[in-house]
Amino acid sequence: MTLDPRERLIVALDVASVAEAQTLVKRLGASVGFYKIGYQLGFAGGLEFAQALVDAGNQVFIDMKLHDIGHTVARGVESIARLGATFLTVHAYPQTMHAAVEARAGSKLRILAVTVLTSYDDADLAAAGYDFTVPELVAERAAQARDIGVDGLVCAAEEAVRLRALIRPSMVLVTPGIRPAGAATGDQKRVMTPAAAIRAGADYLVVGRPIVAAADPKAAAEAIVADIAATHQN
Ligand code: C5P
Repeated sequence: MTLDPRERLIVALDVASVAEAQTLVKRLGASVGFYKIGYQLGFAGGLEFAQALVDAGNQVFIDMKLHDIGHTVARGVESIARLGATFLTVHAYPQTMHAAVEARAGSKLRILAVTVLTSYDDADLAAAGYDFTVPELVAERAAQARDIGVDGLVCAAEEAVRLRALIRPSMVLVTPGIRPAGAATGDQKRVMTPAAAIRAGADYLVVGRPIVAAADPKAAAEAIVADIAATHQN
């Protein structure tokens, strides 16, 4: 996929208020053009703010991980498409994925499936009633997402190589758990540098704390874009 290095960086607006998000977006300026809004900001005025970001020429990823009966998912997807969002996450259940893919038709919204939450291990799946290991369920759901026509997957960078081989070439891989070399990992157990994640097959990188909590967020974002750009030159 031919994407400008800057277009590959998605900054997670994991902040508590629209005021904080506005301050951060202003500080980042033209260094970032793609933002992710999740539960924390989304339920605190973030969806109206998403509209403002789109109106100002940014791309927006709504990370609300939808899962409900098909009718309800479809109506929610239509509302998010009207915001002008670029990406929306849904849990990778076949009914949910079918409903979301149909409902986004005719808009620029692309649906990303979350296969298995990265906080789950095999014991968590067993406790939830599944007779699959995590890698088995990830592969099963990735194949279903591919066959249903989902636009991409959210995955850890270390899963990217395996998933890339399984999905349609047009599907995108969006990868959190990114840490610049030497940065604190926080609660992320499996991390990769921006360049390593792109080399592993990620199309987009989701970065939160290394930028949001940096003393100079703009410099942190520029350093990540430079690291991504280095992979383009090799
Ligand atoms: O601060 P950090 O860079 O770890 O933020 C990563 C972002 O990606 C957070 O918004 C987090 O919720 C999200 N995410 C993740 N792991 C997943 C899916 C989403 O870290 N499997």
